[in-house]
Amino acid sequence: MSLPPIAQLHGVSKNYSLDGRIVEVLRNVDFSVHKGEFVAITGKSGSGKSTLLHICGCLDRPTVGKYLLDGRDVGVLADQQLAGLRQNYVGFVFQDFNLLPYASVYENAALPFLYSTLEEERWKPMVLQALEDVGLSHRMAHRPAALSGGERQRVAIARAVVTDPKLVLADEPTGNLDSVTSRDILALFSSLHKKGATILLVTHDRSVAATASRTVVMCDGTLTEVV
Ligand SMILES: Nc1ncnc2c1ncn2[C@@H]1O[C@H](COP(=O)(O)OP(=O)(O)OP(=O)(O)O)[C@@H](O)[C@H]1O
Ligand SMILES: [Mg+2]
Repeated sequence: MSLPPIAQLHGVSKNYSLDGRIVEVLRNVDFSVHKGEFVAITGKSGSGKSTLLHICGCLDRPTVGKYLLDGRDVGVLADQQLAGLRQNYVGFVFQDFNLLPYASVYENAALPFLYSTLEEERWKPMVLQALEDVGLSHRMAHRPAALSGGERQRVAIARAVVTDPKLVLADEPTGNLDSVTSRDILALFSSLHKKGATILLVTHDRSVAATASRTVVMCDGTLTEVV
């Protein structure tokens, strides 16, 4: 029997209610990501890409349909259980970095461990490795304000991968960066992918999508595969 996909959406719809009107953001989406895949999501602004990514990262829930993370139906989990699942399975790279301004690069990258019961000596080597992987070993004591945009995004990536999550989700990770820095960040995702990470990445940039193993397009809340 083959393993279930890491992320699986079955007939997922997401509606918001705004000023008494229902806004349909995702419409009956069926979508899977398998272990080891690097999937790019493209599509126009407002088409529902971030909403889809938030559901995949257990930051939001479907209005209709099912989301299974590593075979587990998240719909039956309480919020606290969902948060636990997210912590164990998902690394999320936010478009606007979401770094803690008063914490150092090292502390920012170590964030997923800071509230765990593990002692620092157990996880410190993982933080050092993640920072080395993103090329920031020489900036560990810096605060985010003293970093360039590309370096901040690298810290955000280190934080997302430091626990070696089963699924790495990235929302426009190159959106605010110049083309050279974007290429570096992209090379980083490619190398993470080669090391075995499963990646789902939202991008407006077609050249980013070209480095992925599969591309899907979101259009008005509906997803289609690019063949
Ligand atoms: N909390 C909310 N309440 C109402 N509408 C929302 C809410 N969140 C998102 N939307 C709407 O859902 C639609 C899709 O939003 P989403 O952020 O998923 O788009 P996107 O494809 O990521 O766009 P972009 O490329 O600009 O980041 C938008 O029209 C947005 O206005
Ligand atoms: Mg978005």
